[in-house]
Amino acid sequence: MPTRFDLPADFRWGASTAAYQIEGAVDEDGRGPSVWDVFAARPGAVRDGHTGRTACDHYHRYTEDIALMRELGLDGYRFSIAWPRIQPTGAGPANPAGLAFYDRLVDALLAAGIAPLPTLFHWDLPQALEDGGGWLARDTAYRFAEYTERIVDRLGDRVPAWITLNEPFVHMVFGYALGTHAPGRTLMLDALPVAHHQLLGHGLAAAVLRERGHQVLIANNLTPVWPASDDPADVAAAAAYDALHNRLFTDPLLLGRYPDLSAFGVPEDLGGSVRPGDLKLISAPGLDGLGLNFYNPTRIAAPTGPELPFAEAEIADVPRTAFGWPVVPDSLRELLLGLRERYGDALPPITITENGCSVEDRVAPDGTVDDRFRIDYMASHLDALAEAVAQGVDVRGYYTWSLIDNFEWAEGYHQRFGLVHVDFETQKRTPRTSYAWYRDLIAAHRERFAR
Ligand code: FCB
Repeated sequence: MPTRFDLPADFRWGASTAAYQIEGAVDEDGRGPSVWDVFAARPGAVRDGHTGRTACDHYHRYTEDIALMRELGLDGYRFSIAWPRIQPTGAGPANPAGLAFYDRLVDALLAAGIAPLPTLFHWDLPQALEDGGGWLARDTAYRFAEYTERIVDRLGDRVPAWITLNEPFVHMVFGYALGTHAPGRTLMLDALPVAHHQLLGHGLAAAVLRERGHQVLIANNLTPVWPASDDPADVAAAAAYDALHNRLFTDPLLLGRYPDLSAFGVPEDLGGSVRPGDLKLISAPGLDGLGLNFYNPTRIAAPTGPELPFAEAEIADVPRTAFGWPVVPDSLRELLLGLRERYGDALPPITITENGCSVEDRVAPDGTVDDRFRIDYMASHLDALAEAVAQGVDVRGYYTWSLIDNFEWAEGYHQRFGLVHVDFETQKRTPRTSYAWYRDLIAAHRERFAR
């Protein structure tokens, strides 16, 4: 029985998903097209031409999925709301049928004793807004606040805490700089206004939420950055990468300023996007919680060409997930301690809003799905987390990615991150070994404090 994770009595156990990755039903009940519908339809954009058209059919099977969560004993469930269900063109009045779906979802979660933790934006921008510039346009930030208002007015009586954005770094880099995610733009450093406009959107939405007495979180993808050697050129490259990946999306929130991006030849007003008062909005009056999506550390070396001031280096001799991501659990402890050191009293309580791994798809002849690799991944990361907590970092919860296998963006259905296996032909859900392990862990944690 895994009671070794020494975590506080009120520590919250959860699981995470996102709308486009699980819902399907892309043109039902008045939902408008999102950037992901359009991007996934482009030949070659997603592996094997997969799309989120049906995904896990969660839109119709949410009660079955909530039954799985209840059986797991979750305290909380992090899901995302599809903006194009609420405002099919990204502006104007709310679509009643779209609101009604999340209304039913929230009620069903509460009836199961599970706290809903919605993310307002997990990358599925209404295509109509993308046609107007997407997050390159300042106006999208104002539209995001308007959309937030529509949602909160409907669900706010039952939902106390909200995550504004999911991984603004990943969305900027993959979506607008490299083009491997929707909307598929390849602007390299010209994508930087996307950072500011997302953060401005966060600030404007946070004001709406706070006015109504709600708690505000953001889910950032953060990574410890390791220089490839102690050569000053590698160390400088690592500092530049750290500024881009970590500080760009956390300093403005917690310190009210952008980091030094001079290594990129970018001024502190991000090429003129930052207007007077913006940083005050983004930072004031602070977050109630910092959501942390953690997967792996990053090793960085001096640049090999003129385009960027860094180059990614391999982390050798460590296990890798099916995705090829390096597994270095102790780097989570390093990251948590590093955040406390960097931000001191300005650091709000942390919740791990994503952590998990993809595993090979192996269903045994008897129908069982043994995923020892995932159990080891989660257990070792929880060990690292408990260690950081023992060293005084305030971590309030752990939401694993993911409850069920789902549409893994550019990889389609090839990367399986679920505690629950999904057969995408039949939509049959089969809990894996890790599901039972997590259920027992949660139960043991409760029992320990019930005595
Ligand atoms: C994160 C995303 C999430 C999922 C995991 C594997 O970057 O937030 O949607 O795809 O990676």
